[in-house]
Amino acid sequence: MNIIIVGQGAMGLLWYHHLAISTAATNLSLLASTQHNLANTDYHFTDNHGILYQGKINYAYDEQIRNADVILLCVKSFQICATLETIAQHLKKNISIILAHNGMGTLTEVSKIIINQHNIYALLTTHGCLRKTSLSVTHTGIGITDIGLVSGNVKTTEQQALTYVLNKALPSVKLHKNIIEKQWLKLAVNCVINPITALHDISNGQINNDMFTMQIEDILTELVSVAKSEGIHLNVAVLIRTVQQVATATAKNSSSMRCDVLAHKPTEINYINGYIHRLGIKHGIATPENTKLWQAVRQQVE
Ligand code: PAF
Repeated sequence: MNIIIVGQGAMGLLWYHHLAISTAATNLSLLASTQHNLANTDYHFTDNHGILYQGKINYAYDEQIRNADVILLCVKSFQICATLETIAQHLKKNISIILAHNGMGTLTEVSKIIINQHNIYALLTTHGCLRKTSLSVTHTGIGITDIGLVSGNVKTTEQQALTYVLNKALPSVKLHKNIIEKQWLKLAVNCVINPITALHDISNGQINNDMFTMQIEDILTELVSVAKSEGIHLNVAVLIRTVQQVATATAKNSSSMRCDVLAHKPTEINYINGYIHRLGIKHGIATPENTKLWQAVRQQVE
């Protein structure tokens, strides 16, 4: 299996490292936006016990892209469309493209031609990983990964083969027939934790402070209403508990959005609370809390 990881961020290097040392037979390369400037091919990976590994990066060039069977896109949601448009012309038909970003709604931006020619998966992970410097990451928390097809037509055995390779590299990876509900659960977590931690400059655990209780309920009530109009049935009380559990499990961590805002980088807000705002307009449902958060985070970085 020829696999290309796209993205040299924390998640890209986490998967690169685990696939590189995995016993599952793969031809692995990394497509990094900065690779033309990177003479360096050494990366450093610190595992969750503090053990340091040093490895070599095999960068992906045209030949690797032409032969790719699997593209694992570890880039931010707002980079998905442009990244796919850049490499699509070189790709074989019918390959597996895995989207590993936060948020939803990216596929509506990608050309129908690309979508129809390939099989697209969503990958959701709870692993914690932090990039210290360029090409140096630390695995801060062991998590789990869920994967499922969101577009295309692939035999179950092929889906299982892909899951097997990923699971062998960084367990556990579980294949789902219906990943969409899991995507909505992750979206609910991100709709609460990401904007609140970014706007208040707090760590994830502080979300469980009483001062946010009403706001969290409003965010999730709006989310449940728009999800229902999309045919997804969720329960506010269950979502509140899920968010609290994630906040507790990642209490000391900084959310990705807080990190982005602090680093004056673009955030994924358009695909998180912004996605709820857009669906609210589509279905004629008011989403004042999500809309307010979407606007507030955009103002922070503009
Ligand atoms: O975006 C993030 O930071 C993560 O998805 C999560 C779950 C909020 C934990 O920090």
